[in-house]
Order: sequence, then structure tokens, then C-alpha cells
Amino acid sequence: MNFIPLLAILGLMTGLNATATAADLAAGEATAAGICAGCHMPDGNSVIPQFPNLAGQSAQYLSKQLNDYKNGARKDDTMTGMAFTLATDADIANVSAFFASKKHRPTTADASKVALGKAIYRGGNSTSNVPACMGCHSPNGSGNPAAKFPSLAGQHADYTIKQLKDFRDSARTNDSNNMMHNVANKMKVEEINAVAHYIAQMK
Ligand code: HEC
Ligand code: HEC
Repeated sequence: MNFIPLLAILGLMTGLNATATAADLAAGEATAAGICAGCHMPDGNSVIPQFPNLAGQSAQYLSKQLNDYKNGARKDDTMTGMAFTLATDADIANVSAFFASKKHRPTTADASKVALGKAIYRGGNSTSNVPACMGCHSPNGSGNPAAKFPSLAGQHADYTIKQLKDFRDSARTNDSNNMMHNVANKMKVEEINAVAHYIAQMK
């Protein structure tokens, strides 16, 4: 009776091992140190809130974003140029696996916003039909790597606020099926700010 979950876990572990051996972490670390560290820091825990933390983010999500910057699905003047320094799929896979292997740290949050942010993260807003963030991003904010739902825990509030407004205003449109547009366009600005500060202090 217990063997089905066990098999599922073994299957997952095999899958993870395959990913880990396919990517060259040392090559990824060299790219990170040489090109990305100036903004994202060598271990992906950036100190400037406009530069997202990459540490501990899933390799699947990071690779998708880097490909999206290259193919124009996600637009940012700085990052488009940076993504083009990654010439091959292997370059993208290696640097993504390297940042995924690092541990993220929580960042500074405005404590007065955390209670409202937690209520939205966990329960949404039933009056305005904002869905609970945890339904896709998981209760602890670690996301869902297989589905490419990003980890949010410990992300800088300023960066999260910009992304939510970009999704709302359709300045960022690389979310399949408008998944995030349909969330953000129902949110009040104070709800965006509050949930971003709750996310920043998640461990
Ligand atoms: C000059 C500063 C700078 C450098 C250098 C830089 N980035 Fe970025 N990066 C940014 C900014 C700013 C953003 C947010 C852009 C946006 O809003 O779309 C970003 C976003 C990202 C994202 C999206 C993160 C997310 O959570 O969606 C990834 C992935 C990323 N960078 C990877 C890299 C990699 C890999 C390198 C090195 C090859 C690199 N960056 C170099 C400034 C930089
Ligand atoms: C139906 C599933 C779903 C729900 C519910 C959802 N999200 Fe998302 N979210 C996604 C997906 C998918 C992406 C990645 C889009 C992409 O591929 O670029 C994403 C991306 C994000 C990002 C960008 C992360 C980054 O590193 O750039 C933020 C911030 C975010 N979501 C916040 C939230 C918040 C806050 C809520 C609740 C108010 C929420 N999401 C609810 C699916 C969801």
C-alpha cells in the first residue's frame, strides 16, 4: 500500500540525479562569477532589491526565463543582453543548475505589511477573486519545479512588486495561459505591496 508513493519518490530522485549529472556545475559557477555576479552576487543572493535572488530557484524555471529573454518572450533591456552571453543550451543549463544548487536567504520586509500579505498568500481575496498564491507557489513558497511555478520565498519585495505590476499591465507576458496576469489584475496596490513583503521574509 505504501509502495506507490515510494516508487514516485524514487522516480523523482532518479530524475533529479539525471539533471544534476547532465549539468556542469563548475562551468555554471564560472559563468556566474564572470558575468552574473556583478548584479546577482556569486551565490545568487543579490543585495540590491531590483536584482532578483536566483539562489535556490529551480533550474527548470531559471532556464525558461533565460530562454524567454533570448527569444523575446520576456523583455528587459539589461537581461536580454546578459542572456545572449549564454550561447548554447548547455550554458543556460549549467548556470541555472549552479544557482539552483545555492541556498537562498530571506530578505528585509516591512513587518507592518506581513499580516495582510500572509492572508492573501494563503487565502487570496474571495471578494475580488484573487486566488491563493500557495495553490501554485506552495505553502512554504518553494514553488513547483516540474510545473515551472517559481519559488518565491525570500525574494526582494521591490523585485516582486515590479513583476506583479508588469504582469498586471501586460509588460511581462511570458506566463503561459496568462496565469499571472489573471492573478495580478485583480489585486489592489496595497495587496501587491503586502504580499511582496510577506514573501520577502519567507524562509
Ligand atoms: C547588470 C545587472 C545584471 C547582470 C550582470 C545579470 N542580471 Fe539577471 N537580472 C537583472 C535584472 C535587473 C533582472 C530583472 C529584470 C526583469 O524585471 O525582467 C534580472 C533577472 C534575471 C532572471 C529572472 C529571475 C526571475 O526570478 O524570474 C534570471 C534567470 C537572471 N537574471 C539570470 C542572470 C544570469 C544567468 C546572468 C549572468 C549570465 C545575469 N542574470 C546577469 C540584472 C542583471
Ligand atoms: C494558477 C497558478 C498561479 C497562481 C494561483 C499564482 N501564480 Fe504566480 N506564477 C505562476 C507561474 C506559472 C509563474 C511563472 C511565469 C513564467 O513562466 O514566467 C508565476 C510567477 C510569479 C512571479 C514572478 C517570479 C519571478 O521570480 O519573477 C511572482 C512574483 C508571482 N508569481 C507571485 C504570485 C502571487 C503573489 C500570487 C498570489 C496573489 C501568485 N503568484 C499566484 C503561477 C501562479
